[in-house]
Amino acid sequence: MSETPETYDLVVIGSGPGGYVCAIRAAQLGLKTACIEKDKTLGGTCLNVGCIPSKALLSVSEKYEQAQHQFAGLGIDVGSPKADVAKMMAHKDEVVSANTQGIAFLFKKNKVTHIVGTGSIKSAGVVEVDGKAIRAKNIVIATGSESTPLKGIDVDEKQIVTSTGALCFEKVPKTLAVIGGGVIGLEMGTVWQRLGAKVTVIEFLDRILPTMDGELSKEAKKILAKQGMEFKLSTKVTAAKPTKGKVTLTLEPAAGGASETLEIENVLLAIGRRPYTQGLGLDKAGVKTDKRGCVEIDDHFQTNIKGIYAIGDVVRGAMLAHKAEDEGVVVAEIIAGQSGHINYDAIPGVVYTSPEVASVGFTEEQLKEKGVAYKAGKFPFMANGRARAMAATDGFVKILADAKTDRVLGCHIIGPEAGTLIAEVVSVIEFGGSAEDIARTCHAHPTLNEVVKEAALAVAGRPIHI
Ligand code: FAD
Ligand code: NAI
Repeated sequence: MSETPETYDLVVIGSGPGGYVCAIRAAQLGLKTACIEKDKTLGGTCLNVGCIPSKALLSVSEKYEQAQHQFAGLGIDVGSPKADVAKMMAHKDEVVSANTQGIAFLFKKNKVTHIVGTGSIKSAGVVEVDGKAIRAKNIVIATGSESTPLKGIDVDEKQIVTSTGALCFEKVPKTLAVIGGGVIGLEMGTVWQRLGAKVTVIEFLDRILPTMDGELSKEAKKILAKQGMEFKLSTKVTAAKPTKGKVTLTLEPAAGGASETLEIENVLLAIGRRPYTQGLGLDKAGVKTDKRGCVEIDDHFQTNIKGIYAIGDVVRGAMLAHKAEDEGVVVAEIIAGQSGHINYDAIPGVVYTSPEVASVGFTEEQLKEKGVAYKAGKFPFMANGRARAMAATDGFVKILADAKTDRVLGCHIIGPEAGTLIAEVVSVIEFGGSAEDIARTCHAHPTLNEVVKEAALAVAGRPIHI
């Protein structure tokens, strides 16, 4: 007698921040929910090989760098500190493990069934895992993304690595070339530079962080170059030839011209990520993807097949953990019969270099292109008492507001704790608030947040402390 397949209200495929949050929210709403994950641990790219391990290494390498170069100037003599890479990696692994186990605990607490294996969609209503059929009234695809390959560059995750390999080098490379001056390149480049590598960033376009506000890109490049990072802009890599102990890269001007070679110990390929749908059976199920490979969805996250939804890195939009999480919550609420909405103009992006770079809303370039009349208010950390006390005075806050209504349209910060400071402006944008709302809100003294307030005052041309 054949076994009756188990039936769920919702089956989520993938347990990254999109999938696990969706599963927990659905269970909270009373839906019988299962989450299928092909990897050994829960948490997806973010917890295992992304946000969390990279921030663990950024955090320890920042402390090391401060002990090496800043403490003495502040009157703290620690001699000459040494980096123990194995211990740093052990810290990173412990942090990852605590976080992934935390998701397993949350699944148990919320009665989400964790199914281990690769999920493949047979049709609306049926997912197969390792030959076993599971019935699902609704399916959410949350299978995430993978590193984009580059022709002529063969990744072996030892000499030539993606971010995954760069998170577990056993020793500090003497030299590291980073292909791609985006978020991964600058964060992982920063980690290994702080630990002693000579880092060269090779970027195809004429600026780093090309999707961020132009002034942020310029300031970030200036500060990172001061820290010792080398940049080869408007340059493409056409070949990488590994031999024992080194890789020979062939570089060409992006616009064409004579090539040059660069000998380097390790190479990090970080030119973006692409949606991951291998083994999902989208073709057979008839689920449409666009030309970039993203699963196509409507405004309610539903694919062209009724009852099959998709969220996170595998769909259009920013590839960010918090965007995936918010989509996970909203799609669970929609499936449970509630209404849901995400304001994509209020999703912050943060680069965790030192100083941090953070952005929300429109850039000046975008507003100019859209023909929106705006006012900009800018204030430097140099003029803030707390930043001076912290010896962290690089950078500024820039607020962009509608010229007529004063409504905040964007905020761009480079400076200490920029990723935390941006939250205030995200809330104001979410509430449709104005620059004057920020300027007239009392900000504690002495805090870094006062720079946000002063930038808001500067929108009206009346900052106090400059
Ligand atoms: P993922 O996290 O990629 O999870 C997808 C999951 O689905 C995976 O576990 C995968 O194994 C599983 N899966 C795939 N196919 C199947 C299948 N057929 N069956 C079963 N399981 C399947 N974002 C930030 O916001 N902040 C950061 O600081 C940050 N740092 C990052 C650092 C690095 C080095 C990288 C690579 C990324 C970083 N990101 C960061 C991006 C962030 O990790 C992603 O945006 C986020 O993980 C996307 O979540 P997701 O749920 O869509 O997919
Ligand atoms: P990215 O899109 O941030 O940057 C890729 C860079 O590579 C761009 O500057 C691009 O112009 C350049 N590039 C593209 N092709 C090239 C080529 N052939 N040669 C040289 N340069 C080339 O992508 P990245 O850094 O790989 O990160 C992937 C995703 O992961 C991002 O979308 C990001 O959102 C997410 N992420 C987020 C983090 C955060 O929120 N702090 C941290 C790390 C990753």
